[in-house]
Amino acid sequence: MSDQKMSLKKLADFVGSDYQLLLVKLDELIEHKIIPPYQKIKQGVSWQNVYSKDELPLVLSKVGFLKKTKRPMAVTVFTTKGGVLKTTLGLNLARVAALHGLSVCVVGLDMQGDMTNALGAGINCDDQAQEEMLAKGMNINQLANKIDSNKGLYDYYKGDVKIDDIIQSTDLENLFLIPETPELVALNDHLGNLNRREYWLSEKIIRPLKTHFDLIIMDCSPNWNRLTTNALVGSDVLLSPLECKINNFRNYKEFSQFLREFQRDMNLALKTIFVPTRFVTNRRLGLEIKKWYEENVSGITKFGVPECVLGEEASALNISVLEHAPNKLQAQEMRLLLTEIGSFLTDGLSLEISSTDQAQWS
Ligand SMILES: Nc1ncnc2c1ncn2[C@@H]1O[C@H](COP(=O)(O)OP(=O)(O)O)[C@@H](O)[C@H]1O
Ligand SMILES: [Mg+2]
Repeated sequence: MSDQKMSLKKLADFVGSDYQLLLVKLDELIEHKIIPPYQKIKQGVSWQNVYSKDELPLVLSKVGFLKKTKRPMAVTVFTTKGGVLKTTLGLNLARVAALHGLSVCVVGLDMQGDMTNALGAGINCDDQAQEEMLAKGMNINQLANKIDSNKGLYDYYKGDVKIDDIIQSTDLENLFLIPETPELVALNDHLGNLNRREYWLSEKIIRPLKTHFDLIIMDCSPNWNRLTTNALVGSDVLLSPLECKINNFRNYKEFSQFLREFQRDMNLALKTIFVPTRFVTNRRLGLEIKKWYEENVSGITKFGVPECVLGEEASALNISVLEHAPNKLQAQEMRLLLTEIGSFLTDGLSLEISSTDQAQWS
């Protein structure tokens, strides 16, 4: 997407449709005044049909591939390994859902501030944003004060602010963020001292957010800390990347065992979706591991996130791979993956994905 507009050609790729077919569909919707007409803008010497970024949610809600969920859903993205595309997956789901008109709130729970960085709201983390503020004449003290004024979950926990005060807007009108702040470390400690220590997030954050948002996405660190267990307890769905690397077998085995025990102990109805990630499409080993997962892990998606430069580029630009290069194969795979995840979320979890993983280890 050029910053504020998307051409209809790109829109066709984004939704995986033939261009002419999409045009027919759009014209019919425009004729019935269901969606606004697209605009013609001059691009060099030629003319292009485009929708503005603000119009996309309405348009995509009619011609896109993600539907509104029947009830608000809370999704935690977690596994006990770093660098396996947790934040990337959360970011892609959040942005694409918001572009489809779902109201989405992302809750950053990783002390590293990954999601806050990724959604570009984190002046506390983003070097470039800080440079720009210095360039605009702000001195280092003013910058530090501005960073300190960034309120997060810990401020809310202490009762210093209301929940609305910690929800930030982003570049997409339907996408909001509760940013990570350094005090998440303190919050994690404090939660351990509460009576109902696993339920704080669920009762104080997720429940109120569900009255305003269709989708709440929590991005976790790779550790079983109190923030993670709170997120899991308050979630309907766990989205768990499964890295297709040989040294991940043991990690997966241990993780799924721990998860099973945790769910049993907490009596959770949480459903788990495993997503294969980082497989190299032209290498046999990664594909064989992926195949093994497909045959042995229940609740694994058919599509995944391959290792690719495009994905890295999109992450560096803080956007989804579908916004970045919708005509590329890797983006199409992301579309199919998000369609799978979306139908799982919208159909009220009716797909045959069991909450306990039945993988047989030999
Ligand atoms: N498809 C991809 N292939 C390879 N690297 C990717 C891809 N998509 C994103 N990345 C990069 O991989 C790194 C780790 O991803 P991230 O989502 O932060 O992992 P996690 O949250 O599990 O630690 C990031 O620097 C990101 O830019
Ligand atoms: Mg992360």
